[in-house]
Amino acid sequence: MVITRTREELYKILEEFSKNPGKLALIPTMGNLHDGHLSLIKLAKLKASKIITTIFVNPLQFGKNEDFKKYPRTEKLDIEKLKKEDCDILFVPRNDEEVFSKLDKIKTLDSGNLGSELCGKIRPGHFDGVLTVVNRLFELINPDVAIFGAKDYQQQILIKKMAKSLHPKISLLKAPIVRSKNGVALSSRNNYLSEKEFDIAANLFKCLQNSVYSYQKKEKLHEILNNANSFLVSKNLKPDYFELRDSELNLISKNNFEGNKVFLGSVTINNTRLIDNIEF
Ligand code: PAJ
Repeated sequence: MVITRTREELYKILEEFSKNPGKLALIPTMGNLHDGHLSLIKLAKLKASKIITTIFVNPLQFGKNEDFKKYPRTEKLDIEKLKKEDCDILFVPRNDEEVFSKLDKIKTLDSGNLGSELCGKIRPGHFDGVLTVVNRLFELINPDVAIFGAKDYQQQILIKKMAKSLHPKISLLKAPIVRSKNGVALSSRNNYLSEKEFDIAANLFKCLQNSVYSYQKKEKLHEILNNANSFLVSKNLKPDYFELRDSELNLISKNNFEGNKVFLGSVTINNTRLIDNIEF
């Protein structure tokens, strides 16, 4: 695996690689890689012959009181894992300027109305920061394929919308959620949880499963949502939101049984916010 830390090195290696035929797949990450991230690489291998992963803890997507400083940084371990997966290139910029020339001059993208709903309501500006960095990585790398996880469902929809207008040639793929044995979606933020909290966190997935089951049994949506919120509270999980949306994240206010849907939930447990969803 070739490791690049500057834009110049990145351009050089991309030029080298472009001499060989085959598609290039990009997997953007913030590092602290787990099996969820690695599943994206496995999927990339089926879709492209060259794989580039990026590790960059993007300051633009963290709010003032969020965990930018304490976000887990485990570069050595991450490199080992990427080598095992046969990743071809790793771009791990040595500083912010290697991504954005001047952080304070960067033109941020606007994630629109959807960017202020669900997670965006709790984290104002977060998705503008995500879109800005992903757009920048697309500009720098110009991949044929880019892969994002279904765990961050809203992120993946917003990126798809942004790419459709700014990078129509890049095909985006969504990878399924990888979970731990107890059902909790793998996440770097699970590191903040104690063993007991991790067990409690499994109730978010349980709640999503129960809600899908109830919806399919034609229970009334508002009752399902009320029950879900009460269930989460009873398990000491503070619900930030729990909603049913259509697969493009348009609001659904009444039961309807056409088209794909997704229950999405976010809970806080001892200052750690966890998200999860089930599509059906
Ligand atoms: P990060 O949280 O590191 O996630 C990188 C990618 O891994 C995202 O596409 C995310 O959806 C996917 N992923 C994380 N956990 C997963 C799981 N349990 N199963 C499947 N996929 C999973 O998401 C980001 O970084 C950043 O916002 C980024 C897109 C890199 C922009 O900075």
